[in-house]
Amino acid sequence: MQNKLNKIAKDTNFFLKRFIKKQKRSNLIIPMQYSLFSGGKKIRSKILLDIGSLFNLKYKTLIILGSAVECIHAYSLIHDDLPCMDNDTIRRGKPSTHIKFGESTAVLAGNSLLTMAFEILSHKDLNISEKVKINLINKISESSGHLGIAGGQYLDISFEHKKVSKKKIIEMEIKKTGKLFSFCCVAPLILKKKSKKEIKKFENIGSDIGLLFQVADDLIDHRGNLLDAGKKTGKDKKKGKATLISLLGHKNTIKYANKLIFKIKSKLKRYGSKSRDISETLDYILNRNKWKKNTNF
Ligand code: IPE
Ligand code: IPE
Ligand code: MG
Ligand code: MG
Ligand code: MG
Repeated sequence: MQNKLNKIAKDTNFFLKRFIKKQKRSNLIIPMQYSLFSGGKKIRSKILLDIGSLFNLKYKTLIILGSAVECIHAYSLIHDDLPCMDNDTIRRGKPSTHIKFGESTAVLAGNSLLTMAFEILSHKDLNISEKVKINLINKISESSGHLGIAGGQYLDISFEHKKVSKKKIIEMEIKKTGKLFSFCCVAPLILKKKSKKEIKKFENIGSDIGLLFQVADDLIDHRGNLLDAGKKTGKDKKKGKATLISLLGHKNTIKYANKLIFKIKSKLKRYGSKSRDISETLDYILNRNKWKKNTNF
């Protein structure tokens, strides 16, 4: 699993480095590169590749789509760490982007990474039809805006120090994290021009995978340490974040996560041995406790 992740991270970084190199220089490139290449598991690209392999799609095309996703993910982390959001100073074992480059530069580097995703997906060198490109851009925009990351982050902040129902916590986690995973799960079906019904099915699987990922992240925050996590831990409790752990307790949250992984796997069973890779990724998501130091930069 770690070898597969390393290869994906290397190929994604290679594509992104070349893409940026072909553009004109600007003052924001250094902070953008810092956020893209200073580590990161590239787990969203892995999910995209795992689902893509169920539909026999080309590795190279999927790496390009994964690169667009990783730009949006990197932007979301820069903004997540800002003083007006989670106010975190360490990310991936290094100073957060705003600590390293200043707040205004971090905001603008984040904005530039968000829009770079659309530049990648609409690029003339990406060898897919215009119609499919538009469908991909439509879906990734939806995942990132007020119904996705931004909307979920709003809920995350507004739920601080409040007693929030399980349903609302799940809605928040699916929006802030699940929707981008949803995009990773439906992008291969959009490429294959699958029916709306099939796409909906994979959208739901993606939301559940993202939810699982966020619950695992919350568990790491609860029980992990800085050296393993690459970021400060115990901060959710300190900030009064509404999580399943704060509502149900540690043990029940683990039970919830185990049920969730079972539900996701049973939905993927019909793909037989082809679903082995995604199954392995799901186990990794739940059981990981170390951040991955990426040395490919
Ligand atoms: C962290 O995401 C933020 C969450 C959505 C929980 P990752 O754990 O995927 O971050 P990196 O890219 O590997 O550092
Ligand atoms: C972040 O969730 C979700 C995003 C959309 C960026 P967290 O706030 O729990 O992520 P970490 O723990 O800071 O990485
Ligand atoms: Mg946050
Ligand atoms: Mg945070
Ligand atoms: Mg967290």
